[in-house]
Amino acid sequence: MFKILFISLITSINANPRCSTATSVPKYHLIEPCHRSTLGIAARAKYSSLTSCKRLGIEKKALALNFSPTWNRSEPEYPCEVLKCSEAEGGLSLNNDTRYDYYSIYLTAKPIPNVNATCVPSIGMFYLLSRKLNYTNADDKCKNMSSTLADVNSEQRTDALAQFLTGAGVATAFVGLKKDHETRFIEVNGNGLDCTTYRAWAPGHPRRNRYHNCILLTKQHTWRTTSCENKQQALCELIPHGPYKKGSIFKDSP
Ligand SMILES: *[C@@H]1O[C@H](CO)[C@@H](O)[C@H](O)[C@H]1NC(C)=O
Ligand SMILES: *[C@@H]1O[C@H](CO)[C@@H](O)[C@H](O)[C@H]1NC(C)=O
Ligand SMILES: *[C@@H]1O[C@H](CO)[C@@H](O)[C@H](O)[C@H]1NC(C)=O
Ligand SMILES: *[C@@H]1O[C@H](CO)[C@@H](O)[C@H](O)[C@H]1NC(C)=O
Ligand SMILES: *[C@@H]1O[C@H](CO)[C@@H](O)[C@H](O)[C@H]1NC(C)=O
Repeated sequence: MFKILFISLITSINANPRCSTATSVPKYHLIEPCHRSTLGIAARAKYSSLTSCKRLGIEKKALALNFSPTWNRSEPEYPCEVLKCSEAEGGLSLNNDTRYDYYSIYLTAKPIPNVNATCVPSIGMFYLLSRKLNYTNADDKCKNMSSTLADVNSEQRTDALAQFLTGAGVATAFVGLKKDHETRFIEVNGNGLDCTTYRAWAPGHPRRNRYHNCILLTKQHTWRTTSCENKQQALCELIPHGPYKKGSIFKDSP
């Protein structure tokens, strides 16, 4: 009896027509031929096929990869190197190396003007808006720079991004969660918070206040509701290929 109830409950969650199940698989784009990035290697393999190397990249949540198209089984030792980070700030770790081609999931990997994005390994590229803005203006500002307000909807992301705030000396920042007119919390990818189970509400949050419709991530690894009119710093996340596409970059492990 309980079992049946449980199963039908699960089915009804999965069947919520407002929950998009489409996950966008990242694509690696050739950014610099004859270059190799020396950013942290997530994994490497003796693959002679670029497709296999890209598959390894997706499996390891790599933001970029080096691939040697001319591998002769002795040189280089590992023709496929998948990387935790993508080059930013002008590709400071990108070296001339005729053996490898450098690929990234960010088509915008070549520096975006006016943005110094920071890599959060295996999660994505982020930057803080230094000026305090209300939610609407912060959202517009992110969108104007191939970004969206950051997705915090997993423990891994909330933890990593809270650390990012701490590192930047920032207590709270707007992120990509907001109430819609039905008073449902909606993520940047358009899904309702009710499509997933992870929550990081600070004690007493979400506040039952009809003006508290926008979400701040805190450096204490929690979410707080606040008024969207409040002027706050905001955390933007670079999107692999603007304009914004539905679905976060990688499906986070549960
Ligand atoms: C593979 O390439 C390297 C460098 O080009 C060369 O030194 C080596 O002799 C090659 N090995 C074979 C088995 O072709
Ligand atoms: C890499 O090679 C290109 C073309 O040969 C050259 O213009 C550039 O200065 C080189 N960069 C470095 C860091 O050696
Ligand atoms: C980005 O970093 C460079 C080098 O550190 C610095 O000169 C520049 O002012 C920074 N730009 C922004 C918008 O922070
Ligand atoms: C959006 O970007 C354009 C071009 O870089 C700039 O002129 C405009 O002021 C930006 N708007 C905002 C809201 O930042
Ligand atoms: C944010 O400020 C702009 C004016 O700069 C205003 O038009 C907009 O309604 C404000 N949004 C919120 C949510 O307060």
